[in-house]
Amino acid sequence: MAVGIWRDEVVPRATNVLLDSPEVRRLREEAVAGTRGAVVEIGFGSGLNLPWYPEAVRTVLAVEPSRVARRLAARRIDAARFRVELVGLDGQALPLDSASVDAAVSTFTLCTIPDPHRALAEVLRVLRPGGTFHFLEHGRSPSPAVAAWQRRLDPLQQRVAAGCHLDRPITQLVEEAGFAIVRLRNDQLSGPRALEPFGYLYLGVAAKPDPERPRRTAPD
Ligand SMILES: C[S@@+](CC[C@H](N)C(=O)[O-])C[C@H]1O[C@@H](n2cnc3c(N)ncnc32)[C@H](O)[C@@H]1O
Repeated sequence: MAVGIWRDEVVPRATNVLLDSPEVRRLREEAVAGTRGAVVEIGFGSGLNLPWYPEAVRTVLAVEPSRVARRLAARRIDAARFRVELVGLDGQALPLDSASVDAAVSTFTLCTIPDPHRALAEVLRVLRPGGTFHFLEHGRSPSPAVAAWQRRLDPLQQRVAAGCHLDRPITQLVEEAGFAIVRLRNDQLSGPRALEPFGYLYLGVAAKPDPERPRRTAPD
């Protein structure tokens, strides 16, 4: 019972505050830059990305299981310049047609989704060929010392942060799903060294390959 209250009531409210720092806001703006048209956002949370979507976005199709997070999103949804539709509860089974969206967004969600392979396969399916997947995630550090701490702390993190994993290899997951990385920057969230295991960031864009427009491998 207490675990359920922590997971369902406390964690979404804490996330709404902790992931809204000025530093994270700047990263969110970078993450969603270049999105346009119809965008699916998996793990929509409390809508913290909404203020940063560019003008070219027409609709955000939100997928979010937490009732509390969806309620916290209400005022941001009302303030959005574009339409926001809550279309589903599970990023691992998107209720959208194949090749029906122009872009997809995931911020701090691939850490928590139980099966990130399934979620990424779904994102790939619903994106149109050439469509882009924009991600801002924390995950496995390239530093062996930090990665070792991530492994040690992972079981505790999962309990405290509602299933969040510290050491998922984000780039590898995105590439294994069939995306081509277009842009990637790794960063460490600012803060004390002791918090390094929690803040190794992957900020990037990956494209769904378009068979009609194969990528050039050599100059003309
Ligand atoms: C750390 S929060 C991040 C929320 C939001 N993306 C943000 O950047 O503020 C992780 C989110 O993933 C959501 N989540 C968990 N399992 C999910 C699933 N199977 N499908 C979609 N979202 C899920 C959680 O409810 C939570 O809102």
